[in-house]
Amino acid sequence: MSDKKTYSPIGVFDSGYGGLTILKEIVKELPEHDFLYLGDNARAPYGSKSFEEVYDLTLECVKQLFDQGCHLVVLACNTASAKALRNIQQKDLPNIDPTRRVLGVIRPTTELAGNYTKTKHIGVLGTAGTVLSQSYPIEVSKFHPEIKVYQEACPLWVPIVESGKQNADDTDAEVKKHIDVLMSRSPKIDTIILGCTHYPLLINKIKKFVPEYVTLITQGEIVAKGLKDYLQRHPEMEAKCSKNSSIEFLTTGDASFFDENGGKFFGKEIKSKHLQL
Ligand code: DGL
Repeated sequence: MSDKKTYSPIGVFDSGYGGLTILKEIVKELPEHDFLYLGDNARAPYGSKSFEEVYDLTLECVKQLFDQGCHLVVLACNTASAKALRNIQQKDLPNIDPTRRVLGVIRPTTELAGNYTKTKHIGVLGTAGTVLSQSYPIEVSKFHPEIKVYQEACPLWVPIVESGKQNADDTDAEVKKHIDVLMSRSPKIDTIILGCTHYPLLINKIKKFVPEYVTLITQGEIVAKGLKDYLQRHPEMEAKCSKNSSIEFLTTGDASFFDENGGKFFGKEIKSKHLQL
C-alpha cells in the first residue's frame, strides 16, 4: 500500500471489466506509476443507457477517483468517452478543479486508424451508445477525411462479458451475426476497430468469424502509448502522479466475482474492494 500522503494514482475507469484490457497495457508502458481502477460493474452495461445517464454515472465515478487522490483519470470506456468526456472536460472540470484532467480512448484510437487500412474502409464494432453518438466517424474524419467508416452495434456483447460467458459455445452465433452484418456493409473493409474495451475479452470468438485479411485493432496498446506520450508532454501532471508501482481495484459490484472474472483478463491476480455508490 502506498503512502496516503503522497498517493496520487492514475485513475482508470470503465463500466465494468473492459478497462482492464486497457490498464494491462498501460501498466506495461508506465510500470512505476500507481493506478486505481474503478469498474462500475453494478450499473453496467452503459451502452444501452441514455446520454444523460452515462454522463451522470461517469461523472460520479470520476469524482470518486478524484476523492481518492487521482489527478488524472482515463475513461477506459468508449461509451463514457463518447457520451460524457466532453461535458466533463468543458463543464465540470473548471468547477471541480481546473488542474485535474480526464482523458478518453476514442481520440487516440482514431488518430492512428490511418496506419492500418490500405483500402481506406474501416469497420467499427461498439455499443449502441457509441455507435449512435457517431463519435468514431466524426473523429476519424478529423484526422483522416479520406477514410470511410462503417459501424455495427453489438448490444449483447458487454452483458456476455460481464456475466463471464465470453467463452461459452452459445456466444458464437451472436458474435458471428454482427461481424457478418458489418462485413456486408462494404467488401472493402480491411480493418476493424474493436470500439468497446470489453470486446478484446471476446477476441477468440471474433477472430473465428472475421476474414483473415482484416486487421483487428484493439485499443490497449494505442491508449497506453498515448498516455505515456501525454505525460511526457505534460511534465506538471507527470510530477503529480505518485510512483510506487501499486495497482488497486475498486468495483461497485461483488468484489469476489470481480476478482475471479477480472483476474483472467488482467493476467494477474486481482484483489478488489467493493465501493458502494
Ligand atoms: N467497455 C465499455 C466501452 O468501451 C462498455 C460499455 C458498456 O458498459 O456497455 O464502451
